[in-house]
Amino acid sequence: MSPPSPNQESPSSQPSATSVVVGPPGEHYTFGDTAVAADRLALLAAAFEPSSARLLRLLGYLRPRCAVDLGCGPGWSTRLVHALLAPVATLGLDRSPEHVARAEITAPPGVAYRVHEVTSVPFPGEPPEFLYSRFLLTHLRDPEAALAAWAEAAADGAVLALEESADMSCDHAAFTRYYQLVEEMQAAYGQRLRIGAKLSIPARSGWKAELDLLAPLSLPAARMARLHALNIETWRHDPYARACFDGNELDALAVRLGAIARGAEAAPPVKLVMRQMILERGGGG
Ligand SMILES: C[S@@+](CC[C@H](N)C(=O)[O-])C[C@H]1O[C@@H](n2cnc3c(N)ncnc32)[C@H](O)[C@@H]1O
Repeated sequence: MSPPSPNQESPSSQPSATSVVVGPPGEHYTFGDTAVAADRLALLAAAFEPSSARLLRLLGYLRPRCAVDLGCGPGWSTRLVHALLAPVATLGLDRSPEHVARAEITAPPGVAYRVHEVTSVPFPGEPPEFLYSRFLLTHLRDPEAALAAWAEAAADGAVLALEESADMSCDHAAFTRYYQLVEEMQAAYGQRLRIGAKLSIPARSGWKAELDLLAPLSLPAARMARLHALNIETWRHDPYARACFDGNELDALAVRLGAIARGAEAAPPVKLVMRQMILERGGGG
């Protein structure tokens, strides 16, 4: 079966095997903004807080006036940035009004949120002196163009901290299949699951790398299986998944991941490699 073309209008409201309705051309986020998606992001934040905190603590000396968390979701990463860097003001930006509304409920003093498309600059408010982006570039069609736009929007001498997966694997068939399916779906939208492995920072991006490392992480299979099972509940309704993936297979995969999450089935730890970068504005942009 030839894959459907995302962003192609279909005359029918029912996606067929050869055409998919995914709305107008532009950015497409596959992991949703329902309550289930928000629960998953809470678990994701807990799983990655130690490694993110290690990176952000390196920047404790910065004390920026204004920090921006790009693609903030329900605010977990925003609150982490605010707690560790103590900016005067921290602004979380996300395209999802639902996630922004959830984030606002738990906003500490000094933290605010706005609905905003991150590829669109300038950002609301003053040019940020610090920018943070975790698990966002993997969802953008043209991450390099986004980086260049962010340089344009940032204050002189601004610092950008980036975190994206460069690799993820587990020696267990359910995980292997899960990563294959997500990779295929993201590729159909012009996105890269393991963007951290490929990302380059050319001088014309307006950034220069001060720190660029690959952090190996080993995360418990049960924890990751829970995250992935929740995510299947969300992305199985994505137009591409509905047209191209077998619903019975997704049911079986969710059951198997659920069993690993409950500890009813054993699996080895998930090996992740995180690309962590600290960039400074001024690389020739
Ligand atoms: C995987 S979540 C990461 C959330 C948060 N950065 C964290 O690490 O906890 C990605 C977030 O980016 C948002 N997002 C994706 N594409 C976006 C875009 N083009 N503009 C603004 N937000 C976007 C999604 O709505 C989602 O909340």
